[in-house]
Amino acid sequence: MKKAYTIIDHTYDVVVVGAGGAGLRACLGLAQGGLKTACLTKVFPTRSHTVAAQGGMSAALGNMGEDDWRWHMYDTIKGSDWLGDQDSIAYMCKEAPAAVIELERYGVPFSRTEDGKIYQRAFGGMTTNFGEGRAQRTCAAADRTGHAILHTLYQQSLRHEVEFFIEYVALDLIMRDGACIGVIGWNLDDGTLHRFSAKSVVLATGGYGRAYFSATSAHTCTGDGNAMVLRAGLPLQDMEFVQFHPTGIYGSGCLITEGARGEGGYLTNSDGERFMERYAPNAKDLASRDVVSRAMTKEIRSGKGIGQHKDHLHLHLEQLGPDILAERLPGISETAQVFAGVDVTREPIPVIPTVHYNMGGIPTNFWGEVITQGTGGNDKVVGGLFAIGEAACVSVHGANRLGSNSLLDLIVFGRAASERLVEILDHRSSCPKAGDSDIEQALSRFDQIRLSQGSYPTAVLRLAMQKAMQDNCAVFRTEEVLKEGIEKIQVIRDQFMDVSITDRSMIWNTDLVETLELENLLIQSVATIHSADRREESRGAHAREDYPKRDDEKWLKHTLTWDNGSHEPMIAYRPVTLETGTTEVESVPPTDRVY
Ligand code: FUM
Repeated sequence: MKKAYTIIDHTYDVVVVGAGGAGLRACLGLAQGGLKTACLTKVFPTRSHTVAAQGGMSAALGNMGEDDWRWHMYDTIKGSDWLGDQDSIAYMCKEAPAAVIELERYGVPFSRTEDGKIYQRAFGGMTTNFGEGRAQRTCAAADRTGHAILHTLYQQSLRHEVEFFIEYVALDLIMRDGACIGVIGWNLDDGTLHRFSAKSVVLATGGYGRAYFSATSAHTCTGDGNAMVLRAGLPLQDMEFVQFHPTGIYGSGCLITEGARGEGGYLTNSDGERFMERYAPNAKDLASRDVVSRAMTKEIRSGKGIGQHKDHLHLHLEQLGPDILAERLPGISETAQVFAGVDVTREPIPVIPTVHYNMGGIPTNFWGEVITQGTGGNDKVVGGLFAIGEAACVSVHGANRLGSNSLLDLIVFGRAASERLVEILDHRSSCPKAGDSDIEQALSRFDQIRLSQGSYPTAVLRLAMQKAMQDNCAVFRTEEVLKEGIEKIQVIRDQFMDVSITDRSMIWNTDLVETLELENLLIQSVATIHSADRREESRGAHAREDYPKRDDEKWLKHTLTWDNGSHEPMIAYRPVTLETGTTEVESVPPTDRVY
């Protein structure tokens, strides 16, 4: 019993999908630039996952000692294990100080130094003088920086009359002749379907951390934009690079900010040893995340884990004292109490490397324009489609993101996309109107899932997928383990064809929402695990035990993955940009690293 849906039409200059830091920063710039802007979001804007960002936003302001954007750029390129595009990295690091000051003017309540400047803390991999000293570069609002930024940007967006469509699930892009002309939304509150025609759509839908069993990401982080791009026949880039944050709380996966180590926290094993001194004698606990997560995994594997199952380690903060903890780390002090039953002024927190961030995503240039491979393998801009934030792969993080470069990425590229759109969109031109034939395929997919009467409950398939990704595409990988994971994910994808939905209604049907999200996660899991299997080297967060070295000759290139519906996705490669586009530093050549 197929339903003939009533479709409600809307027309905007730009529709932004997602109301996290990147989406809201883009909305603000678009509205300020006079474009009629809508924002579609499946959660209330201030509940977007940016609200959970804790430690801060990097920028070479130099408030706590000498700093320079070129040092920041060098650290980011090195941190990316040379997979980052150097032109995008140079752009981001150069723009960073102005982006922070702009946020301050908008009202973000940053923490302050004694003399009233924005407070900056140390974070992993952030150095001065091209690796010589330790930088304090991460601008913080205590340990609730994302919360402060998100609330400020939402208020500013309302002030500039962005139109919000809240608790609307984006179902699919509307594509015509290879270009994007809009997006379809489902209003959970009243069950109506909406067709948004737009001159441009900006995807700011975040990462897909929930493909894994243990993640710091919110349950809503299902990479819906990435999946819509795959369904539109476009590729995702560098999906094999999944970041594990060293300090997720053991058991719940809740984040304990790297800022805790920036303030002087340290890790110990079952011998009470500060083992990071062995793995990274200079940076120690503030080595980059891939290095710390691998060291922790090695300690646990060698029997030096803590607890009954010897499967976690300890993070000590008690030496910081109650005053510093209350002033700089109040949020994680509370989180540790609630989720681990730990009083951080007296006891260590049990922690374990936990999935935190996707370096891969929708390939874009540094204006946020989505790119695909054209004839002859050249980059081609996809008309009417932008991507920003964690959904995008611009690629400033390459194979491994430095902590606090994420909030920066959201703001700098959210702003860049809005500036580009204000420049290129013609206010007077009419908007392409999406019709019924443009959305037929998307609605039939929606219908098929909504009416499915199979035998596998969504929760069962989701758990199987999350366990497979956690076990078979983890911190360390081998061909054997990845191939086993590919088979598991294939079986789950086949079983998804026989998924069971019990609620057929259109209003607040969370059964259906979760099933749509599961399909999104599944196609991204396929892209991730196949890309990981193909890349026969170690680089950044992709540590292959059977290929323990980085291989620049063969693998200094981005992976592109298309979903063609079959068990074997199509994979191709594109070059990394090794020029910064500025004569101030022309390029940062690769150097060695240990995996
Ligand atoms: O550790 C943190 O506060 C997380 C920051 C980040 O991922 O950038």
